[in-house]
Parts: sequence; structure tokens; C-alpha cells
Amino acid sequence: MDLKECIRLIPNYPKEGILFKDITPLLKNSDALQYTIKQMVKFCENKQPDIVVGPESRGFIFGTPLAYELGAGFVPVRKPGKLPAEVERVEYELEYGTDALEIHKDSIMPGQKVVICDDLLATGGTVQSAIQLIEKLGGEVVGICFLIELTFLNGADKLKGYDVQSLIKY
Ligand code: PRP
Ligand code: MG
Repeated sequence: MDLKECIRLIPNYPKEGILFKDITPLLKNSDALQYTIKQMVKFCENKQPDIVVGPESRGFIFGTPLAYELGAGFVPVRKPGKLPAEVERVEYELEYGTDALEIHKDSIMPGQKVVICDDLLATGGTVQSAIQLIEKLGGEVVGICFLIELTFLNGADKLKGYDVQSLIKY
């Protein structure tokens, strides 16, 4: 199945010069959605993760069904102020200024195996922060899967030494 056909390209969104990859046509296509999750499951199965981590918000969409299929738990990584209990926090650089991501301190036990799942690898800032949060808690990142990778942004350079899969590349 050619998943690329299910991605809608939107020119100049959210700003001039960006060709946005819209995943909503894939999500509403039952065959494409099922195929996507199955491919992610195939990649993860032999890694036997205890936990799937999904970064807010599009990582929730793929991470939760993936966790369900693997018989793993799901843990959200969220934007600041969204998680109610005690959190670990990392800040990361944006083009202008910084942003931060948080995870519940008690969400991963030392030694647990973790897969990270998100819709998109662009600069890699989001996934790098997720890795830092997981490793701060003592989790072991055993795999990272994306629906889409924008190879021209070289995000994969930040993921050397990790086992990474992306289903669609631009
Ligand atoms: C998008 C996308 C990835 C991230 C990739 O999320 O869903 O999580 O950017 O970019 P990066 O590799 O440069 O970090 P966004 O922060 O736009 O939020 P959303 O998932 O809530 O739409
Ligand atoms: Mg996101």
C-alpha cells in the first residue's frame, strides 16, 4: 500500500514556503490507518517494549493504538502545564526562543523498555527531548517510529545509535 498517496500536501502552511504534510486523509482512510499501525507493530514487536511514549498531540494518535496492539502501556509527553502530577521537564531550542516538554515522573520505571512513536520527524527536536525525558527516568529507548520523515532536515542525525523507522520519506 502506498501511504504517500494518503498524505495531502498543503503549500505555504502554516507559513510561506512550508509544504505542510497533512495526515488527515490517511487517518480517515480505514485501510491506510490499519496498514500504518500494522507496519509500526511489525517494527516494534521483537523489541518487546513495556511502554509506548507519544509526544503531544499527533503522537497520541498513533502511539495509543500501537501500545494497545503491542500489549504495552501508553505514556504521554506533553507541552508544559498539561500534566497534573510531578513532572520531569526538558527545554529545547526553537528557531526563535525555547519550548519545553514534560513527562510524569512516575510514568516509566528504571529499566523499562520504551518505544517512541510520532507522526513526523522534522528537525528532531521533539523526539530528542522525549529521549532525554525517558532516559532521565531510567527508561531504555529500544525503538523510535515515525509515519513521516523529512530527510532534508536531517533530524535523523540526532538519533544516531537508536533503532529508527519511518514509513514515508520526503
Ligand atoms: C509536529 C509533529 C512532531 C514535531 C516534529 O508537532 O507532530 O511532533 O512537530 O518536529 P521536530 O522534529 O522539528 O521537533 P507539533 O509540535 O507541531 O505539535 P502537534 O503534534 O500538537 O501538532
Ligand atoms: Mg507533534
